[in-house]
Amino acid sequence: MAFAVSSIMLFFLLVLLPLSATAQPYGNVTLGSSITANNANSTWLSPSGEFAFGFQQIIRGGYLLAIWFNKIPERTIVWSANRDNPVQAGSKVQLFADGRFELSDPRGHRIWATPLSLGGVAYGAMLDTGNFVLANTNSVVLWQSFDEPTDTLLPTQTLNQDGTLVSSFSKTNFSSGRFIFRLQNNGDLVSCTRNFPMDDIIFPYWSTKTVDSGFQVIFNQSGYIFLVAKNGSILNFVSSTSASTSQFYQRAMLEYDGVLRHYVYPKSANSAGGRAMAWSTMHFIPSNICSSIKQSRGGGACGFNSLCSFGTDQMPKCECPIGYSFIDPNDRMSDCKPDFAQQSCNEETHETDLFSFNDMPNTDWPLSDSAYFQQVTEEWCREVCLNDCFCTVALYRDGNCWKKRYPLSNGRVDDNIGGKALIKIRNSNATADSSGSKKSKRSILIITGSVFLGSSMFLNFLLLSFICLYAFCFSQQKSKVIQALQVLPGLNIRRFSFKELQGATNGFWEELGRGAYSTVYKGIIKNDNTETVVAVKKLHKMATEGEEEFKAEVSSISRTNHKNLVQLLGYCDEDQNRLLVYEFMSNGSLANFLFENSRANWYKRLQIAFATARGIRYLHEECKNQIIHCDIKPRNVLLDESFTAKISDFGIAKLLKPDQSRTTTGIRGTKGYIAPEWFRNMPITVKVDVYSFGILLLELICCRRNYERKVEAESEMILADFAYDCYKEGTMHLLVANDDEEALNDKRFDKFVMIAIWCIQEDPELRPTMKRVLQLMEGSVEVPIPPDPASSITSI
Ligand SMILES: *[C@@H]1O[C@H](CO)[C@@H](O)[C@H](O)[C@H]1NC(C)=O
Ligand SMILES: *[C@@H]1O[C@H](CO)[C@@H](O)[C@H](O)[C@H]1NC(C)=O
Ligand SMILES: *[C@@H]1O[C@H](CO)[C@@H](O)[C@H](O)[C@H]1NC(C)=O
Ligand SMILES: *[C@@H]1O[C@H](CO)[C@@H](O)[C@H](O)[C@H]1NC(C)=O
Ligand SMILES: *[C@@H]1O[C@H](CO)[C@@H](O)[C@H](O)[C@H]1NC(C)=O
Ligand SMILES: *[C@@H]1O[C@H](CO)[C@@H](O)[C@H](O)[C@H]1NC(C)=O
Repeated sequence: MAFAVSSIMLFFLLVLLPLSATAQPYGNVTLGSSITANNANSTWLSPSGEFAFGFQQIIRGGYLLAIWFNKIPERTIVWSANRDNPVQAGSKVQLFADGRFELSDPRGHRIWATPLSLGGVAYGAMLDTGNFVLANTNSVVLWQSFDEPTDTLLPTQTLNQDGTLVSSFSKTNFSSGRFIFRLQNNGDLVSCTRNFPMDDIIFPYWSTKTVDSGFQVIFNQSGYIFLVAKNGSILNFVSSTSASTSQFYQRAMLEYDGVLRHYVYPKSANSAGGRAMAWSTMHFIPSNICSSIKQSRGGGACGFNSLCSFGTDQMPKCECPIGYSFIDPNDRMSDCKPDFAQQSCNEETHETDLFSFNDMPNTDWPLSDSAYFQQVTEEWCREVCLNDCFCTVALYRDGNCWKKRYPLSNGRVDDNIGGKALIKIRNSNATADSSGSKKSKRSILIITGSVFLGSSMFLNFLLLSFICLYAFCFSQQKSKVIQALQVLPGLNIRRFSFKELQGATNGFWEELGRGAYSTVYKGIIKNDNTETVVAVKKLHKMATEGEEEFKAEVSSISRTNHKNLVQLLGYCDEDQNRLLVYEFMSNGSLANFLFENSRANWYKRLQIAFATARGIRYLHEECKNQIIHCDIKPRNVLLDESFTAKISDFGIAKLLKPDQSRTTTGIRGTKGYIAPEWFRNMPITVKVDVYSFGILLLELICCRRNYERKVEAESEMILADFAYDCYKEGTMHLLVANDDEEALNDKRFDKFVMIAIWCIQEDPELRPTMKRVLQLMEGSVEVPIPPDPASSITSI
């Protein structure tokens, strides 16, 4: 019985509510009144002064026609007429004599208005509930702001079917944003992602599941928010608080992050009872928005490629993964873009050696899968993603491997996820900037221009021929434009005085390395405000060398430009002193990396193999003047700060003794890496480098030196021989340590051993070219069965 009575009372209350809202005829806005956006004090206040209606400046020169809490310093906006279209100073809102209520810009264009059909408006009023009303002479409300909510509900406000809150775009941008809270006309109350910038819904991430029964959302005077059925029974409590509306300001707001929060603010220090004089959250829905949103379209709770985590402060936080950054740095809900060029799908390069993975535990981007594999190892998972130019992330969990495609959506970080996401990033973004092309071209002009004006005839000639050669080289490499543009060697090459280099190296103090023909020192070159760390190579006395020849060779070296070659920055040829200045490679030589530290990761080793092969291919085939290195070995492969391999000392062979490319004396190479033809009466060709590369490749695969005395059996001492024996007997696993599982599990392992055996054929004719070697390594060509390296030569 009591229930029936209270229901009936509630029913009356609901029906009569619009009328009861008329009951505060105080501080009337009379017909003809207007306010203009520019005077801070021109507002219409509610009788208590708690709410104001007027213009609030939200951005420089941009005003919202709004209602706000007027007695708190934040002046929190609860409603606005023109959120998507802020107006300039001088705009005006006016209640016309005929009852039209309009906002117009300074030129008189209408920006917003109440419906024209309202007849008999007698006055307007800002009520103490925060509701602005237009009423007739009988105080019947004809229009009210409560019926057109923006993102906020206030106590005594109701949300009827089709009533919608749309979140702001961001904390500071009040434009319509990415989320919707709506009582649908089927009765379901939902929070959804919005199909920005359209108003339709993509994905409901919270719902009362009240299809066919939900009728109205009520925010009552006691601070309860609930959904009722048509007969008045309560279907769902959205929120409630013990804080009374007499002591606390209250509001429920769908915020820019998609969370509906019920806030309270003490009206006075007395009522605060120790609480801060600030808005505090009483309740919020959904409980974890990061895990609630899983949509097939759109980015998710955060933008594309972004990651959502729900912290202890109960706020969702959007962050870009390492290597990515926000498209709009001021909008943390925006998409994340990679800070590097995407992996090339060019069949020839594939760039697999230029990418590696960052491990991110408990991270997932559900619904972005492009492939799924079961019962695989993590290494297998990494490799399959690395070799797929469309794979952006691999997810590995308990033997399962998912490949994820770009752009990634619904990203989240959460302890419940388990496993780890492996996000693919370019090792160094130094070569990635395609916008660099314009810049670089212009800098050629500037540099050449200024140099022509201020240098000697000889240098001009050198430069001119160099520019032509550069252009030639460049036109041959259209597909590699991106890699090649970063620095323009040679154009930047500088001639140093001996004194300068003496100063830069602090009197040749810190020795980096020493070879038969040169010693290398660390130095610092100061230029304006920048300091560049360099390696200064001091060539030991070269008896017969002429100055011109030295210059010619230096310019030939400087003309090379490849990401896998160490860059020459300058030179010095003063008196008897011959020095070369190179970029400094912070991670030392491959020899250190391979033999002196703990065993290097298999994939890293493969990357280095690819990089070295590309560098040699460039020297042999891709530039105008073919360069035979003559001394390929781990000491001459250096690693930069991101462990990208770069070949050093190329071109030196010629500097040391001119015209030696077909010499039969004066062996330049290093023992162990030297091709047999050096010892025979045979011409020296690029194939000597292929031989040395073959040895280096074996060392990379097996992680040991070609010649090693401390081995179990004598047959293992020389790696090249040992490798072929193992290959012949099908025991190639003996080549690597038992626990080098990554190598042993890689199906390419055998293939790489076979390629190395091809490279170390004693007959140079049988060795593949470097171009071919790369095709074999990349898998675009099958590796044929290699013959015994020594067999061919025995008959010669
Ligand atoms: C507001 O206007 C209505 C209708 O004209 C009138 O009944 C009421 O007294 C007015 N209130 C005030 C405070 O002027
Ligand atoms: C607004 O009103 C306050 C208090 O009445 C006054 O101190 C202030 O100068 C006024 N500001 C403007 C812009 O008129
Ligand atoms: C607010 O966001 C909207 C939607 O992206 C954008 O069009 C508008 O320029 C932004 N306004 C400001 C002031 O940044
Ligand atoms: C009110 O309506 C709801 C849903 O439509 C229904 O479940 C409930 O039984 C009704 N209650 C009464 C008292 O009619
Ligand atoms: C608000 O709703 C709650 C829950 O139904 C109820 O207990 C309370 O009495 C209501 N307050 C008012 C003023 O209607
Ligand atoms: C890419 O380069 C920028 C600027 O040089 C640097 O701040 C950033 O850390 C680099 N990113 C990676 C992944 O190396």
